Amino acid sequence: MSLLRTSAARSLRLPALITGILFGVLSGCSSSDDNDDPGVDIPGDSGDPGTTVVLEPLPNPPLTEAPSADDEPVPFDSVFHTVTDYALVRDTGPRIEDDIVADLTEADYAAGLPEAVITVPAGVDPAINGAPYFEGLSNVRVEAGQLVDIRYVPRDPEGELPGMFPQGLPDGATFDDNFDGTKSLRWQTYQADLGVTAFTVVAVDPANSEYRSSQTVLIAVDPPSDPASVPNIAPSILPIARYTVRAGDPVSIFIIGTDRNGTVPSIELLDPPANAFLTPDERTPEWQILQAVPETAGTITFDVLTRDADDPALTGLDQIILDVLEPAEFERSGDRLKTIAAGSGIEFGSAISPVFYMQADGGVYESIAGSEFGVMTPESSMKWIAINPLPGRFEFADMDNLVSFARANAMKVRGHPLVWHRSLPDWVEETAVEDREVHMREYITRVMTRYSDDVDYWDVINEPVADEGGLRDSLWLEAMGEQYMDIAFAQARELDPTAILVLNEYDIGFAGPKFDALLSLLDRLRAREVPVDAVGFQLHVSSNFDQFDELASNMAAIAERGLDIHVTELDVAIVDDDSDQIQADIYRGIVETCLAQSRCKVLQSWGFTDRYSFRTGQTPLYLDRDYAVKPAYQALQESLGGN
Ligand code: G3I
Repeated sequence: MSLLRTSAARSLRLPALITGILFGVLSGCSSSDDNDDPGVDIPGDSGDPGTTVVLEPLPNPPLTEAPSADDEPVPFDSVFHTVTDYALVRDTGPRIEDDIVADLTEADYAAGLPEAVITVPAGVDPAINGAPYFEGLSNVRVEAGQLVDIRYVPRDPEGELPGMFPQGLPDGATFDDNFDGTKSLRWQTYQADLGVTAFTVVAVDPANSEYRSSQTVLIAVDPPSDPASVPNIAPSILPIARYTVRAGDPVSIFIIGTDRNGTVPSIELLDPPANAFLTPDERTPEWQILQAVPETAGTITFDVLTRDADDPALTGLDQIILDVLEPAEFERSGDRLKTIAAGSGIEFGSAISPVFYMQADGGVYESIAGSEFGVMTPESSMKWIAINPLPGRFEFADMDNLVSFARANAMKVRGHPLVWHRSLPDWVEETAVEDREVHMREYITRVMTRYSDDVDYWDVINEPVADEGGLRDSLWLEAMGEQYMDIAFAQARELDPTAILVLNEYDIGFAGPKFDALLSLLDRLRAREVPVDAVGFQLHVSSNFDQFDELASNMAAIAERGLDIHVTELDVAIVDDDSDQIQADIYRGIVETCLAQSRCKVLQSWGFTDRYSFRTGQTPLYLDRDYAVKPAYQALQESLGGN
């Protein structure tokens, strides 16, 4: 059922499929997450950009239950944060992980060994160079307490020896080299492992490392026929990182007990420092929240004792270590980035996540973020999987807390994202094609209704263009054709007439088919009077970036279309052993390119400390893991100030 009408067929209610054909959109390409997705044919090639959509009212009753009073977060008193003038909230009910049915079932196991997934890079002809594979594998079934031992014998039709590597390991398992060309998964199972687990090993072609065969084996762990035969293992806690914190900041740390026998241990502190204590988590009482306020510089070690649920004499001892620095260690010289940027006429900000109350170093995280940024983007707290993980179930607390944080620090907020092909809950992935327009519009409506008073910029559509050009294949394109974007923007404009509506994309900071496809898409959207106000250049770049001229030219092409430019997710991953100074130069170059373009209005990074970057291994940000200033920070201060 489609709720949209096109002005060319105002009297008709066109099913989305027919609308899709009107715009010449052909689906059927590879999965949208596949980077070599050739994309979907561009409707504009036919010269007809299509017509303006007009939204019909959403159905009542809605397809899924709207938020209710039960979804309202409640005060969250057992965690600290440093800004005193707002209360934190938490969601109610059991945590979602507890609700979601296990991904793999006995039926999956019974279906037999999964087909290998072969990745064939360009230039390889499987008829000539056969794919690598593993000999003699099959699904495995054991009882808890038994050892799983699976030998991987890699083969290649051309006779050479493939390489191989595991994709993740089950809890407590090892993948051992047998020094005879084979490797073995060895996994001592316990009651905590009951159910069906997928274990995947990738075979790599000897002649081409991009030519791979990914083979999953399903391992079924049944309850032990003789429970007494399974050793009782000492309990422990989930690993907790070593944090650097600021003296005087309140610290909250979630301590989650674990036991390989599948039981839940009790948790206690041994000889805790003064003012350190445990509080049961209100949503998951077997979790404990350690609260403490380290007052003096130095290293603090908390000894955490766990007691086995079946045998209290069986205990585990773990340590939580904090490196406490004086506040002065976190001071940054010069003016704050938002202040300097404002002097140059642009807004500066960052993506922010619930670290400020969910991690031990939340105090210094919150303090730095609150002082440096004038606009924030929820890194993941407004994504569909976070907000609406199950039909009719809403988890608003993290986003509510981020909005409170923004208000307390006079920050603007970027609503990110409304429509994306990633981070969708399973139930959305499983929706019927004909219902997707309504599901999409219901989600947009619910999120915007709750947050539009606090949001100035909406990333309405995120990453619609395929990497090789054309439109990214997605649930949304499949259901509505290109018009999913028209519908989303129209819905957003209807709900928030004054906000800036943004189309956000990555890898458009240089010339190429992707940027060309974006321009073509924008021209069609604008011909259909779709209310796009700005284009978001994510700019997840690397330290070898040198296409500043192309970036400037691409920004100019957007400006020529009367659209603003927002740099929305800037980070600069260190590659090829480049220095921090080279990284700083890239930050500087991008800021200068933005400042040189009058329509470039907002510049945001995707986080600010390497500790919490999604690509932390490449240290892409301008404060290090312990919040120390890097050359890139000074480069930002100077370049934002026009120096
Ligand atoms: O919150 C859950 C937690 O409850 C669970 O225990 C844990 C383990 O499964 O997952 C947690 O969710 C993770 C989420 O980040 C919050 O940390 C997801 O698994 C993880 O996939 C998600 O990754 C984010 C990714 O988008 C996908 O949403 C990254 O942090 C985030 O940096 C990245 O950001 C995207 C932008 O939104 C769009 N542009 C590209 C950019 C980088 O991919």
